Amino acid sequence: MTRVLVLQGPNLDLLGTREPEIYGRDTLDDIHAGLAARAASLGLEIAFFQSNHEGALIDRLHVRDFDVAIVNGAGLTHTSVSLRDALLAIERPFWEVHLSDPWKRDAFRQVNFLHDIAAATIAGHGARGYTEALEAIATRFGGDA
Ligand code: DQA
Repeated sequence: MTRVLVLQGPNLDLLGTREPEIYGRDTLDDIHAGLAARAASLGLEIAFFQSNHEGALIDRLHVRDFDVAIVNGAGLTHTSVSLRDALLAIERPFWEVHLSDPWKRDAFRQVNFLHDIAAATIAGHGARGYTEALEAIATRFGGDA
C-alpha cells in the first residue's frame, strides 16, 4: 500500500481562524479528516504531521517511513534552503500544495525553494488542493482500490 505523509508547515495549525478570507474556514483537523476518508477510499495509507519548527519538519522527513509526501511548507516555502535540502536528501517524490496562490500575492512569496523540485504544485484551490494531490498520487502510484 502506498504510504503518504502530509507535512504541514508553520501557522497551518491556526487554519479556521487564520486570515480566513485567504485560507478559508476549514481547520487543519477538518482537512485531515477529509483526507483520511479519501485516502481510505483510494486505498492509500496516510499520516499527518504539522509543526511550527523547521527542524521538526526536517526530522520528520528524515524518518522516511512514507513513499510520497504532500507538502505545504507555508512560510518556509519562501525561505528554507534546509527544507529543500531535506526533501532532496530523502529521495521521495512530493506534491507541493498551497491553499492560496502565492504567485498572485506579495512579491516575497514569488521566491519558492520547493517548486522546481516538486513532482507537481497545486496552489489556490483551497483545501480541495490537498484532495487533488492525493488523487494524483493514487493515479500515479496506485492505491488498493
Ligand atoms: C501558504 C502560502 C504561504 O505563502 C504562506 O506563508 C502560508 C500558507 C498557503 O497554503 O497558501 O503560510 O503555504
